[in-house]
Amino acid sequence: MIRKVLILALIGVALAAPSSKVEQKLTSTLKSEGTANIFVKFHGGNKAAISRLELLKFTDRTAKITHLVKNLKTVAQSTQKNALGLLKARTVSFKQFWISNELYVQGASVELVNSLAGLPEVEDIREEIVITLEQPIFGEIVPNAEWNIEIIEAPAAWALPGGNNGTGAVVANLDTGVRATHEALRDNFRESYGWFDPYDSTSTTPSDGNGVGTHIMGTLVGSGGIGVAPGAQWISCRGCSAISCTQAALLQCGQWVVCPTLPNGESEDCSQAPHVVSNSWGGGQGDTWYDPVLSAWQAAQITPIFAIGNSGPSCGSVGSPGDSPLVIGVGSLSGTSADSLASGSSIGPSSINGGLKPDITAPGSMIRSAWGTSDDAYQTISGTSMAAPHVAGTVALLRAENPNFTFQEVKDLLGNNADTDLEDLGAVCGGIPSTQFPNNHYGHGRVNARRALEAAINLN
Ligand SMILES: *[C@@H]1O[C@H](CO)[C@@H](O)[C@H](O)[C@H]1NC(C)=O
Ligand SMILES: *[C@@H]1O[C@H](CO)[C@@H](O)[C@H](O)[C@H]1NC(C)=O
Repeated sequence: MIRKVLILALIGVALAAPSSKVEQKLTSTLKSEGTANIFVKFHGGNKAAISRLELLKFTDRTAKITHLVKNLKTVAQSTQKNALGLLKARTVSFKQFWISNELYVQGASVELVNSLAGLPEVEDIREEIVITLEQPIFGEIVPNAEWNIEIIEAPAAWALPGGNNGTGAVVANLDTGVRATHEALRDNFRESYGWFDPYDSTSTTPSDGNGVGTHIMGTLVGSGGIGVAPGAQWISCRGCSAISCTQAALLQCGQWVVCPTLPNGESEDCSQAPHVVSNSWGGGQGDTWYDPVLSAWQAAQITPIFAIGNSGPSCGSVGSPGDSPLVIGVGSLSGTSADSLASGSSIGPSSINGGLKPDITAPGSMIRSAWGTSDDAYQTISGTSMAAPHVAGTVALLRAENPNFTFQEVKDLLGNNADTDLEDLGAVCGGIPSTQFPNNHYGHGRVNARRALEAAINLN
């Protein structure tokens, strides 16, 4: 009898207490709105699924990724079982993510949130954030349109003995989409497993509601002189609508990049995974919500490149996920000489671990590339969003040379071969002056495709 009372009392506590798992912001939204779009995170996340991989040997990357995805799905299926039971007993719309071992629920009520929080395997519940895209700064068309490709010595990299222009590598961008019919991009779009749109499952071919996604892909792999790796093939996932990116869409794209599907979400094939993914979205600081995806990308040998944001020039202004040690974070250089820092480029150190950021810088001002309005449209724009694809394109050259390069190997090849003849900013961040390399303004310096690829060739 006494035992029964005790158990009931404990259950009473369990029902009242779980609010500690519910993020403060979500609690306020539920109070004011009644419902919210939520993410449910489970203890352990995807860590066990990824670490199990390290002990095994695989014949190739496809076998490794296929096994990774199987592990991730198995872990997600078993950890999310009870939570799924709660969801299926109600009429709510939800989505399971195996990439991060999370559940996404649309319009969750207070009652449902409390029930989910009552499950011991649930770690925390947070409200979905919608990330607003920063609009780029528009500029004049510069006379020598390919100055940016020249300054990082991409043409010299293509011409190296044993050099390459990206042939054999596959790049992805996770942005506003791409105008696939653009004259600079139509020849190297990989149509098979080449497009996914989480906002519209009936969309079968790439399109761009903004223009920026097309511009970024142009700098990465565009032909006619605008791209760093014009021999590489490209694929794309629409992580962002024309103005903003939902976290649910960014997770879906993170998942699709590891093991692409057809545009309708079916017939997954991990052999279609890209070698590098270029990201020019971000929001907040020290926010680690995308870490599970970044870890999975790393395990799948997909190199994550991120713009670090345009919130400079204060120290510690780097945005997430560019501030994560799991990505190569890219800052922007100013003007067409690209030998000083762009005024708005965010500056390190990272608020996550005090680590160095950016990792590297690239031309990002007055960049001319393809535009989304017509098949022969070009536009000149500025921002760290434009700097990131210069680095992603250089990574495509490195991965074309050797697809097996690890994240650390790629990072070292880029960092150890960057140009450091950059302007003294007379500034110190994280105790490091801008004249000492690496530093929190320029990272390791300006990316140099020829030197990085030459070093990679000499390694092999
Ligand atoms: C890239 O290099 C390959 C091999 O040398 C060549 O066949 C191809 O035309 C080049 N592609 C571009 C877009 O320059
Ligand atoms: C990459 O790894 C695969 C399998 O592990 C191997 O067969 C291939 O030769 C490697 N490629 C290079 C360029 O080292």
